[in-house]
Amino acid sequence: MSKLAINGGKPVRKKPFFPWPYHSQEEVNAVVRVAKSGKWQSRWHGADDVTEFERAFARYQQAEYGVCVNNGTVTMMIALQCFGIGPGDEVLMPVSTFIAVPLAVLQLNAVPVFIDIEPGHGNIDPAKLEDAITPRTKAVIVVHNYGIPADMDAVLAIARKNKLHVLEDAAHAHGSEWRGKRVGAIGDMGSFSFQSGKVMTSGDGGILLTNNEKLYKLAKGISSFGYGYPEPILACNYRISEFQAAVLRVQFKRLDSQIDRRWKNYQYLSKRLDEIDGINIPAMDERVTRWSVYVLFARYNRDAFEGVSKQRFVEAVKAEGIEIISDGYTPLYRNPLFQNKTFMSKNCSAGQPWYDRIDYTKVHCPVAEHMADESAFDMDLYNFLLGPTSDIDDVIDAISKVKENISEIK
Ligand SMILES: Cc1ncc(COP(=O)(O)O)c(C=O)c1O
Repeated sequence: MSKLAINGGKPVRKKPFFPWPYHSQEEVNAVVRVAKSGKWQSRWHGADDVTEFERAFARYQQAEYGVCVNNGTVTMMIALQCFGIGPGDEVLMPVSTFIAVPLAVLQLNAVPVFIDIEPGHGNIDPAKLEDAITPRTKAVIVVHNYGIPADMDAVLAIARKNKLHVLEDAAHAHGSEWRGKRVGAIGDMGSFSFQSGKVMTSGDGGILLTNNEKLYKLAKGISSFGYGYPEPILACNYRISEFQAAVLRVQFKRLDSQIDRRWKNYQYLSKRLDEIDGINIPAMDERVTRWSVYVLFARYNRDAFEGVSKQRFVEAVKAEGIEIISDGYTPLYRNPLFQNKTFMSKNCSAGQPWYDRIDYTKVHCPVAEHMADESAFDMDLYNFLLGPTSDIDDVIDAISKVKENISEIK
């Protein structure tokens, strides 16, 4: 009789993990308070939850200024617009990340250029940056993937030498630190997301941080029809509402204690995972002084699992009731959007010849490809690590069970 749940056996776990988004009566009270106040729209009629939150979150991330908007993709579009990025400009970014990053670049008719990642923790590999720089390169987007700060020293040195703007995509990295400095304003601007799968959330939402007053004023103007900006600018309405900011203020109060709790539980999870031959977890760069643990980027070695593919292993663990595991990022250029260049907008009067310069079907990033195809898998930790340690034991039991019975899925 089969033991593995994927073959009809009894799963290790049937219960769901810690619920996310998490809320208490405080979030409910905050929403009711705003509803009763009649001040629902931000930057209007003396409404102040957005302004209060912007100040508090910027201070927390050690930035001078913050501008809240409706999500963590628009934040990147605004930052790129503030940098003056436009049609044909090239923007460097890691190849293994969320599609929002190149989409923000494409919205400005600029060109995403994908850079391979470091095999250790999966962030952009600074050693691969310089070769990709051309006279058209204007900016680099550094993603602090899964909350792990990227090597900001190396990226900044290259960016300054080549006069590139630096945008930190810290969508996963609320509270993370690089050499004692919170991420987000180490580069020129930093973008955070408050989408519902992030460590603090208002369903949707985002904030842009900077230490540069000029960039701040421009970003604020762009986000709200140019109001308050001294010159006419191409702006839009990207505002967040007071309801969202009120919820964020409550979520924010829990952020540090939840980061600490995840970190404590991560010590136990990583120790137990380490005991399983063929599962490896990333070694942390010692310059990362705080990792706000968000997602685990783990490695699978099929040799220790009788040659079974990573994809099959992940399916088998999922079937055991561990739905927090997934197959990892696939290199962005494999997306049909890039393979077929379906992003080209038909209404661009100038045409878009600059996209002819890059053939995404010929781009190859070997580290990212190997990780996606053979070795990397992810585990969502933002909710999971807030539960009891018995939840961690269930994950270890599920992986160990799959390993012990691996011949069933060979
Ligand atoms: C790395 C990264 N950047 C940006 C975003 C976009 O954020 P939002 O969903 O708030 O637009 C996400 C995910 O949501 C992300 O994972």
